[in-house]
Amino acid sequence: MTREQPLGFQPPAIGEEEIEAVAETLRSGWLTTGPKAALLEERMAEYLEAKHVLAVASGTAAMHLALVALGIEAGDEVITTPITWPATANVIVHSGATPVFVDVRAGDLNIDPALIGAAVSERTKAIMPVHLAGQPADMDPIWELGIPVIEDAAHAAESTYRGRKLGGLSEATCFSLYATKNIAAGEGGLVSTNSDEVADAIRNLRLMRRGDGSLYDITVPGYKANLSDVLAAIALVQLDKLPEHTAARERQFALYDEGIAGLDGIEPLERDPRDTHALHLYVVRIDAERFGLTRDEVQRALAAERISTSIHFLPVHRLTWYRERFPGQPSLPVAERAGDEILSLPLSPAHSDGDIADVIEALGRIRDRTT
Ligand SMILES: Cc1ncc(COP(=O)(O)O)c(C=O)c1O
Repeated sequence: MTREQPLGFQPPAIGEEEIEAVAETLRSGWLTTGPKAALLEERMAEYLEAKHVLAVASGTAAMHLALVALGIEAGDEVITTPITWPATANVIVHSGATPVFVDVRAGDLNIDPALIGAAVSERTKAIMPVHLAGQPADMDPIWELGIPVIEDAAHAAESTYRGRKLGGLSEATCFSLYATKNIAAGEGGLVSTNSDEVADAIRNLRLMRRGDGSLYDITVPGYKANLSDVLAAIALVQLDKLPEHTAARERQFALYDEGIAGLDGIEPLERDPRDTHALHLYVVRIDAERFGLTRDEVQRALAAERISTSIHFLPVHRLTWYRERFPGQPSLPVAERAGDEILSLPLSPAHSDGDIADVIEALGRIRDRTT
Protein backbone atom coordinates (compact mmCIF):
# COMPACT_ATOMS: atom_id res chain seq x y z
CA MET A 1 0.00 0.00 0.00
CA THR A 2 1.27 3.50 -0.80
CA ARG A 3 2.51 5.25 2.33
CA GLU A 4 0.41 7.95 3.89
CA GLN A 5 3.48 9.85 5.08
CA PRO A 6 6.32 10.54 2.64
CA LEU A 7 9.56 8.72 3.49
CA GLY A 8 12.65 10.93 3.31
CA PHE A 9 15.85 9.57 1.83
CA GLN A 10 18.25 10.36 4.67
CA PRO A 11 16.68 12.65 7.28
CA PRO A 12 18.99 13.63 10.13
CA ALA A 13 18.52 11.83 13.45
CA ILE A 14 18.47 14.85 15.74
CA GLY A 15 16.99 14.84 19.23
CA GLU A 16 16.63 17.01 22.31
CA GLU A 17 20.30 16.38 23.21
CA GLU A 18 21.54 18.18 20.10
CA ILE A 19 19.04 21.03 20.65
CA GLU A 20 20.22 21.39 24.25
CA ALA A 21 23.90 21.35 23.17
CA VAL A 22 23.23 24.18 20.68
CA ALA A 23 21.36 26.21 23.31
CA GLU A 24 24.18 25.72 25.81
CA THR A 25 26.78 26.80 23.22
CA LEU A 26 24.79 29.90 22.33
CA ARG A 27 24.49 30.77 26.02
CA SER A 28 28.27 30.36 26.37
CA GLY A 29 28.82 33.16 23.85
CA TRP A 30 30.96 31.08 21.47
CA LEU A 31 29.41 31.42 18.04
CA THR A 32 32.58 30.82 16.09
CA THR A 33 35.49 28.39 16.59
CA GLY A 34 36.15 27.84 20.28
CA PRO A 35 36.26 25.16 22.97
CA LYS A 36 33.65 22.87 21.37
CA ALA A 37 35.59 22.72 18.09
CA ALA A 38 38.77 21.99 20.08
CA LEU A 39 37.01 19.23 22.03
CA LEU A 40 35.62 17.74 18.81
CA GLU A 41 39.16 17.63 17.37
CA GLU A 42 40.46 15.91 20.49
CA ARG A 43 37.68 13.34 20.61
CA MET A 44 37.81 12.63 16.89
CA ALA A 45 41.60 12.18 17.00
CA GLU A 46 41.05 9.51 19.63
CA TYR A 47 38.17 7.94 17.69
CA LEU A 48 40.02 7.97 14.36
CA GLU A 49 43.32 6.80 15.90
CA ALA A 50 45.14 9.77 14.37
CA LYS A 51 47.64 12.23 15.84
CA HIS A 52 45.86 15.34 14.59
CA VAL A 53 42.29 16.20 13.63
CA LEU A 54 41.50 19.67 12.30
CA ALA A 55 37.90 20.85 12.27
CA VAL A 56 36.93 22.82 9.17
CA ALA A 57 33.84 24.23 7.47
CA SER A 58 32.94 21.27 5.24
CA GLY A 59 34.18 18.01 3.78
CA THR A 60 34.89 19.96 0.60
CA ALA A 61 37.05 22.45 2.52
CA ALA A 62 38.82 19.54 4.25
CA MET A 63 39.87 18.08 0.87
CA HIS A 64 40.77 21.46 -0.61
CA LEU A 65 42.96 22.42 2.35
CA ALA A 66 44.61 18.98 2.32
CA LEU A 67 45.55 19.46 -1.35
CA VAL A 68 46.95 22.94 -0.69
CA ALA A 69 48.77 21.70 2.42
CA LEU A 70 50.47 19.02 0.32
CA GLY A 71 51.62 21.68 -2.14
CA ILE A 72 49.40 20.61 -5.04
CA GLU A 73 49.28 23.44 -7.59
CA ALA A 74 48.83 24.39 -11.24
CA GLY A 75 50.48 21.94 -13.60
CA ASP A 76 50.02 18.96 -11.24
CA GLU A 77 47.72 16.00 -11.78
CA VAL A 78 45.66 14.26 -9.12
CA ILE A 79 44.18 10.82 -9.73
CA THR A 80 40.66 10.20 -8.47
CA THR A 81 37.50 8.21 -9.07
CA PRO A 82 34.56 9.32 -11.24
CA ILE A 83 32.06 7.73 -8.83
CA THR A 84 32.02 10.46 -6.20
CA TRP A 85 30.30 13.68 -5.24
CA PRO A 86 31.74 16.28 -7.66
CA ALA A 87 33.37 18.09 -4.72
CA THR A 88 36.26 15.60 -4.86
CA ALA A 89 37.11 16.62 -8.42
CA ASN A 90 36.14 20.29 -7.96
CA VAL A 91 38.72 20.83 -5.21
CA ILE A 92 41.43 19.38 -7.46
CA VAL A 93 40.42 22.02 -10.01
CA HIS A 94 40.34 24.72 -7.27
CA SER A 95 43.91 23.83 -6.31
CA GLY A 96 44.94 24.52 -9.91
CA ALA A 97 45.66 20.85 -10.69
CA THR A 98 44.02 18.56 -13.25
CA PRO A 99 41.84 15.64 -12.13
CA VAL A 100 42.66 12.35 -13.82
CA PHE A 101 39.77 9.90 -13.56
CA VAL A 102 40.44 6.18 -13.23
CA ASP A 103 37.67 3.61 -13.61
CA VAL A 104 36.12 1.75 -10.65
CA ARG A 105 35.67 -1.90 -9.71
CA ALA A 106 32.27 -3.33 -10.60
CA GLY A 107 31.71 -4.87 -7.15
CA ASP A 108 32.01 -1.89 -4.80
CA LEU A 109 32.44 0.98 -7.31
CA ASN A 110 35.63 2.14 -5.58
CA ILE A 111 38.65 3.18 -7.67
CA ASP A 112 40.30 0.17 -9.32
CA PRO A 113 43.92 0.08 -8.10
CA ALA A 114 44.92 -2.16 -11.01
CA LEU A 115 44.17 0.73 -13.41
CA ILE A 116 45.94 3.50 -11.49
CA GLY A 117 49.46 2.67 -12.69
CA ALA A 118 48.58 3.44 -16.31
CA ALA A 119 47.24 6.88 -15.29
CA VAL A 120 50.36 7.93 -13.35
CA SER A 121 52.56 10.49 -15.10
CA GLU A 122 55.48 12.58 -13.92
CA ARG A 123 52.95 15.29 -13.08
CA THR A 124 50.97 13.02 -10.72
CA LYS A 125 51.26 14.54 -7.25
CA ALA A 126 48.49 12.80 -5.30
CA ILE A 127 45.78 10.13 -5.41
CA MET A 128 42.33 10.78 -3.94
CA PRO A 129 40.40 7.54 -3.42
CA VAL A 130 36.82 7.68 -2.13
CA HIS A 131 35.39 5.11 0.28
CA LEU A 132 32.00 4.88 -1.40
CA ALA A 133 28.99 4.29 0.85
CA GLY A 134 31.36 3.37 3.71
CA GLN A 135 33.27 0.51 2.05
CA PRO A 136 36.99 1.32 2.19
CA ALA A 137 38.75 1.38 -1.17
CA ASP A 138 41.48 -1.22 -1.77
CA MET A 139 44.23 0.87 -0.17
CA ASP A 140 47.31 -1.39 0.00
CA PRO A 141 48.08 -1.32 -3.74
CA ILE A 142 47.42 2.43 -3.74
CA TRP A 143 49.90 3.11 -0.91
CA GLU A 144 52.42 0.83 -2.64
CA LEU A 145 52.67 3.34 -5.51
CA GLY A 146 54.48 5.71 -3.13
CA ILE A 147 52.42 8.75 -4.18
CA PRO A 148 50.84 10.98 -1.46
CA VAL A 149 47.24 9.94 -0.74
CA ILE A 150 44.35 12.13 0.39
CA GLU A 151 41.40 9.92 1.30
CA ASP A 152 37.86 11.15 0.75
CA ALA A 153 36.30 9.50 3.78
CA ALA A 154 33.10 11.57 3.73
CA HIS A 155 31.11 8.32 3.98
CA ALA A 156 33.55 6.45 6.15
CA ALA A 157 33.70 7.89 9.68
CA GLU A 158 33.09 4.45 11.15
CA SER A 159 35.03 2.36 8.64
CA THR A 160 38.08 0.27 9.34
CA TYR A 161 40.45 -0.99 6.65
CA ARG A 162 41.90 -4.41 7.50
CA GLY A 163 41.36 -3.76 11.20
CA ARG A 164 42.58 -0.13 11.39
CA LYS A 165 40.51 3.03 11.55
CA LEU A 166 40.74 5.31 8.53
CA GLY A 167 42.30 8.51 9.81
CA GLY A 168 46.04 8.13 10.28
CA LEU A 169 46.84 5.79 7.40
CA SER A 170 47.48 8.26 4.54
CA GLU A 171 48.99 11.75 4.30
CA ALA A 172 45.49 13.16 5.00
CA THR A 173 41.99 11.73 5.44
CA CYS A 174 38.95 13.96 4.99
CA PHE A 175 35.54 13.56 6.62
CA SER A 176 32.25 15.40 6.23
CA LEU A 177 29.76 16.44 8.92
CA TYR A 178 27.10 17.32 6.33
CA ALA A 179 23.43 16.85 7.30
CA THR A 180 23.14 13.34 5.86
CA LYS A 181 26.40 11.93 7.19
CA ASN A 182 26.82 9.39 10.02
CA ILE A 183 28.05 12.21 12.27
CA ALA A 184 25.77 15.01 11.12
CA ALA A 185 26.30 18.60 12.29
CA GLY A 186 24.48 20.15 9.31
CA GLU A 187 27.74 21.39 7.81
CA GLY A 188 31.35 20.78 8.74
CA GLY A 189 34.39 18.70 7.96
CA LEU A 190 37.51 17.19 9.48
CA VAL A 191 41.02 16.49 8.27
CA SER A 192 42.92 13.81 10.13
CA THR A 193 46.62 13.18 9.75
CA ASN A 194 49.65 11.86 11.59
CA SER A 195 51.85 14.47 9.92
CA ASP A 196 52.79 17.52 12.04
CA GLU A 197 53.57 19.46 8.84
CA VAL A 198 50.21 18.79 7.20
CA ALA A 199 48.38 19.63 10.45
CA ASP A 200 50.31 22.88 10.84
CA ALA A 201 49.70 23.89 7.24
CA ILE A 202 45.96 23.30 7.59
CA ARG A 203 45.83 25.23 10.86
CA ASN A 204 47.40 28.15 9.00
CA LEU A 205 45.16 27.84 5.98
CA ARG A 206 41.73 27.35 7.53
CA LEU A 207 41.49 30.64 9.40
CA MET A 208 43.12 33.60 7.75
CA ARG A 209 43.72 35.71 10.80
CA ARG A 210 46.29 34.37 13.24
CA GLY A 211 48.21 36.17 15.93
CA ASP A 212 48.00 37.54 19.43
CA GLY A 213 45.53 40.21 20.41
CA SER A 214 45.16 42.90 17.80
CA LEU A 215 48.50 42.09 16.19
CA TYR A 216 48.39 39.69 13.30
CA ASP A 217 50.47 38.58 10.39
CA ILE A 218 49.85 36.76 7.14
CA THR A 219 52.38 34.07 6.27
CA VAL A 220 50.16 32.41 3.67
CA PRO A 221 47.01 33.74 1.94
CA GLY A 222 44.65 31.46 3.83
CA TYR A 223 40.96 30.73 3.58
CA LYS A 224 37.94 31.15 5.85
CA ALA A 225 37.15 27.51 6.46
CA ASN A 226 36.94 27.14 10.24
CA LEU A 227 34.13 25.30 12.05
CA SER A 228 31.65 27.11 14.32
CA ASP A 229 31.28 25.88 17.90
CA VAL A 230 27.51 25.74 17.38
CA LEU A 231 28.03 23.01 14.76
CA ALA A 232 30.84 21.33 16.72
CA ALA A 233 28.42 21.01 19.65
CA ILE A 234 25.98 19.06 17.46
CA ALA A 235 28.78 16.84 16.15
CA LEU A 236 29.89 16.01 19.71
CA VAL A 237 26.42 14.75 20.60
CA GLN A 238 26.23 12.79 17.35
CA LEU A 239 29.56 11.17 18.18
CA ASP A 240 28.11 10.02 21.52
CA LYS A 241 25.12 8.59 19.68
CA LEU A 242 27.18 6.63 17.13
CA PRO A 243 26.75 3.21 18.81
CA GLU A 244 22.96 3.64 18.94
CA HIS A 245 22.79 4.97 15.38
CA THR A 246 25.08 2.23 14.09
CA ALA A 247 22.79 -0.40 15.60
CA ALA A 248 19.88 1.13 13.64
CA ARG A 249 21.94 1.15 10.41
CA GLU A 250 22.90 -2.49 10.98
CA ARG A 251 19.23 -3.46 11.38
CA GLN A 252 18.28 -1.56 8.24
CA PHE A 253 21.10 -3.11 6.19
CA ALA A 254 20.06 -6.59 7.38
CA LEU A 255 16.42 -5.91 6.45
CA TYR A 256 17.42 -4.72 2.99
CA ASP A 257 19.84 -7.62 2.44
CA GLU A 258 17.11 -10.09 3.27
CA GLY A 259 14.33 -8.33 1.40
CA ILE A 260 16.34 -7.69 -1.74
CA ALA A 261 17.73 -11.22 -1.92
CA GLY A 262 14.28 -12.33 -3.12
CA LEU A 263 14.08 -9.76 -5.93
CA ASP A 264 15.76 -10.77 -9.17
CA GLY A 265 17.59 -7.93 -10.90
CA ILE A 266 18.48 -5.87 -7.80
CA GLU A 267 21.75 -6.34 -5.96
CA PRO A 268 23.52 -4.35 -3.26
CA LEU A 269 27.12 -3.21 -3.74
CA GLU A 270 29.72 -5.64 -2.41
CA ARG A 271 31.00 -5.28 1.16
CA ASP A 272 34.42 -6.70 2.02
CA PRO A 273 34.20 -8.85 5.18
CA ARG A 274 37.83 -7.94 6.03
CA ASP A 275 36.75 -4.32 6.61
CA THR A 276 34.23 -2.51 8.76
CA HIS A 277 31.69 -0.86 6.48
CA ALA A 278 30.39 2.46 7.81
CA LEU A 279 26.88 1.56 6.57
CA HIS A 280 26.45 5.12 5.31
CA LEU A 281 24.46 4.33 2.16
CA TYR A 282 22.55 1.30 0.97
CA VAL A 283 23.30 1.36 -2.76
CA VAL A 284 21.72 -1.18 -5.11
CA ARG A 285 22.33 -1.87 -8.78
CA ILE A 286 19.31 -2.40 -10.94
CA ASP A 287 19.75 -4.62 -13.96
CA ALA A 288 17.03 -3.25 -16.24
CA GLU A 289 16.71 -6.44 -18.26
CA ARG A 290 16.27 -8.75 -15.31
CA PHE A 291 14.24 -6.36 -13.18
CA GLY A 292 12.02 -5.24 -16.05
CA LEU A 293 12.50 -1.51 -15.34
CA THR A 294 15.40 0.90 -15.62
CA ARG A 295 16.87 2.62 -12.57
CA ASP A 296 15.13 5.87 -13.55
CA GLU A 297 11.80 4.07 -13.86
CA VAL A 298 12.27 2.42 -10.46
CA GLN A 299 13.16 5.77 -8.91
CA ARG A 300 10.02 7.37 -10.39
CA ALA A 301 7.85 4.45 -9.30
CA LEU A 302 9.18 4.71 -5.73
CA ALA A 303 8.56 8.47 -5.78
CA ALA A 304 4.94 7.73 -6.75
CA GLU A 305 4.85 5.55 -3.61
CA ARG A 306 6.07 8.61 -1.64
CA ILE A 307 9.52 7.05 -1.10
CA SER A 308 12.56 9.27 -1.77
CA THR A 309 15.79 7.82 -3.12
CA SER A 310 19.05 9.24 -4.41
CA ILE A 311 21.95 8.45 -6.74
CA HIS A 312 25.53 8.07 -5.47
CA PHE A 313 26.88 9.01 -7.90
CA LEU A 314 26.61 10.11 -11.51
CA PRO A 315 30.10 9.74 -13.05
CA VAL A 316 31.79 13.12 -12.62
CA HIS A 317 33.64 13.00 -15.96
CA ARG A 318 30.26 12.94 -17.75
CA LEU A 319 28.92 16.07 -16.04
CA THR A 320 28.74 19.14 -18.27
CA TRP A 321 31.72 21.18 -17.03
CA TYR A 322 34.05 18.18 -16.96
CA ARG A 323 32.87 16.95 -20.37
CA GLU A 324 33.41 20.35 -21.92
CA ARG A 325 36.68 21.18 -20.14
CA PHE A 326 38.29 17.78 -20.76
CA PRO A 327 36.81 16.64 -24.10
CA GLY A 328 39.49 13.98 -24.64
CA GLN A 329 38.53 11.96 -21.54
CA PRO A 330 38.80 8.24 -22.18
CA SER A 331 35.61 6.34 -21.57
CA LEU A 332 35.34 4.65 -18.19
CA PRO A 333 32.95 1.79 -18.95
CA VAL A 334 32.43 0.37 -15.46
CA ALA A 335 31.65 3.77 -13.95
CA GLU A 336 29.44 4.77 -16.87
CA ARG A 337 27.35 1.62 -16.67
CA ALA A 338 27.05 1.94 -12.89
CA GLY A 339 25.94 5.55 -13.28
CA ASP A 340 22.84 4.28 -15.08
CA GLU A 341 22.13 1.42 -12.68
CA ILE A 342 22.72 2.57 -9.11
CA LEU A 343 20.10 3.73 -6.67
CA SER A 344 20.49 4.59 -2.98
CA LEU A 345 17.55 3.50 -0.81
CA PRO A 346 16.29 5.35 2.28
CA LEU A 347 18.55 4.76 5.27
CA SER A 348 18.68 6.69 8.52
CA PRO A 349 18.58 6.09 12.26
CA ALA A 350 15.54 8.38 12.08
CA HIS A 351 13.69 5.67 10.11
CA SER A 352 11.91 2.75 11.74
CA ASP A 353 12.28 -0.87 10.70
CA GLY A 354 8.70 -0.55 9.38
CA ASP A 355 9.81 2.27 7.07
CA ILE A 356 12.46 0.00 5.55
CA ALA A 357 9.92 -2.82 5.22
CA ASP A 358 7.72 -0.37 3.26
CA VAL A 359 10.55 0.27 0.78
CA ILE A 360 11.13 -3.45 0.25
CA GLU A 361 7.43 -4.09 -0.14
CA ALA A 362 7.09 -1.23 -2.63
CA LEU A 363 10.04 -2.57 -4.66
CA GLY A 364 8.36 -5.98 -4.75
CA ARG A 365 5.08 -4.49 -5.94
CA ILE A 366 6.82 -2.37 -8.57
CA ARG A 367 8.60 -5.46 -9.85
CA ASP A 368 5.42 -7.56 -9.87
CA ARG A 369 3.73 -4.98 -12.08
CA THR A 370 6.33 -5.67 -14.79
CA THR A 371 5.77 -9.43 -14.94
C1 LIG B 1 31.97 11.34 -1.35
C2 LIG B 1 31.83 12.75 -0.85
N1 LIG B 1 32.90 13.54 -0.84
C3 LIG B 1 32.84 14.81 -0.40
C4 LIG B 1 31.66 15.34 0.06
C5 LIG B 1 31.66 16.77 0.47
O1 LIG B 1 31.34 16.99 1.81
P1 LIG B 1 30.64 18.37 2.26
O2 LIG B 1 29.25 18.35 1.77
O3 LIG B 1 30.74 18.34 3.76
O4 LIG B 1 31.45 19.47 1.68
C6 LIG B 1 30.50 14.54 0.07
C7 LIG B 1 29.20 15.00 0.53
O5 LIG B 1 28.66 15.79 0.92
C8 LIG B 1 30.60 13.22 -0.39
O6 LIG B 1 29.51 12.44 -0.42
